[in-house]
Amino acid sequence: MPRIAVLTSGGDAPGMNAALRTIAKVAAIHGVEVIGFEDGYDGLIDGRVRPLTRKVDGGLSTTPDVSLAGNLGGTFLGSSRSARFVTPEGRAAAAARLDGFAGLIVIGGNGSLTGAHKLAQETGVKVMGVPASIDNDVGCTSTAIGVDSALNVITEACDRISDTARSHRRAFIIEVMGRHSGYLAMASAVAVGADGILFREQGRSEPELVTTVANLLRRGFAQKGDKRRVLVIKAEGVEIPCTRLVRLVQDELAAELPGVEVRATVLGHLVRGGNPTYQDRMVAGRLGLSALDALLHGETDQMVAWLPQQVEGGVQTSDPAIQRFTLERVLDETRALLDGTSAVTRWRVGMLEKLEGALSL
Ligand code: F6P
Repeated sequence: MPRIAVLTSGGDAPGMNAALRTIAKVAAIHGVEVIGFEDGYDGLIDGRVRPLTRKVDGGLSTTPDVSLAGNLGGTFLGSSRSARFVTPEGRAAAAARLDGFAGLIVIGGNGSLTGAHKLAQETGVKVMGVPASIDNDVGCTSTAIGVDSALNVITEACDRISDTARSHRRAFIIEVMGRHSGYLAMASAVAVGADGILFREQGRSEPELVTTVANLLRRGFAQKGDKRRVLVIKAEGVEIPCTRLVRLVQDELAAELPGVEVRATVLGHLVRGGNPTYQDRMVAGRLGLSALDALLHGETDQMVAWLPQQVEGGVQTSDPAIQRFTLERVLDETRALLDGTSAVTRWRVGMLEKLEGALSL
């Protein structure tokens, strides 16, 4: 009976369980055993297995975990950012565990896919990547598993904070996850009608950040107008801590706007938890299905990408919204996304620069 392996790696993302569910169920129908490895690459190196399929009545079915966890956030297989897998020795040990498997599906973000590419190149293990990262910082795909759920959590949190902010005529700085990518801050700011956005890609110095926020408050609260809330969304990657930013802004405005209060809320890991949205479950299921299909057809060292428009170099799959790219191309595009040289990043920043004046109206 053919067998494949699967693991989830890096920061967990809502929808990872939905991807595992589809992979296990479809594989079971085709008589392919699915073995999960716990806690990402660490569990692979240690050989800690958790089967996702089991033999019943001469055929295969899925284990109870698979159905129970399918709609839940996080990952029931567990995850890690494995320090051991970063070394060639760690990857060799991992490859040895995959003897007798047709291949490995890796569900994760940038670092996990980098590891998957090295594993395929160095050891010949057949590997297929599935993008999962709330940060939406994986190249060649328009979205990744978890992004939509994270944005919905941020939207709800900002709406709630806006209710209390308006009641007291206050300003809030809300920090959202995104160490290297400001995507969550950018996308949520537009969705909630924030007054300002601070993200790493703008490259603002500390004094510039303080002036930007102070100006938003001047504009919002200087006259006794209708405005009762000023909301600024800050990406985690903008290094100044929220508390420091609040203090510096309050110091700058103490004489000009006495009594105006600025508060800060760091949403942190709240953003990464919770049950996946419909969109994430649907994207996860279809990406999982395409990854399984490609692996069973002998493809390797690639990632399945959610891209409804045909892109040069992408291999169209039987799903019109999914194309496959080599992991090498994905990782090149990811680097460009993060260092600002990608056309996608330039477009995002340019679009938000155009919006900047309008947001605070
Ligand atoms: O998964 C991506 C991410 O959520 C980043 O936005 C964040 O900076 C990082 O993970 C936090 O990781 P950890 O939970 O390991 O501290």
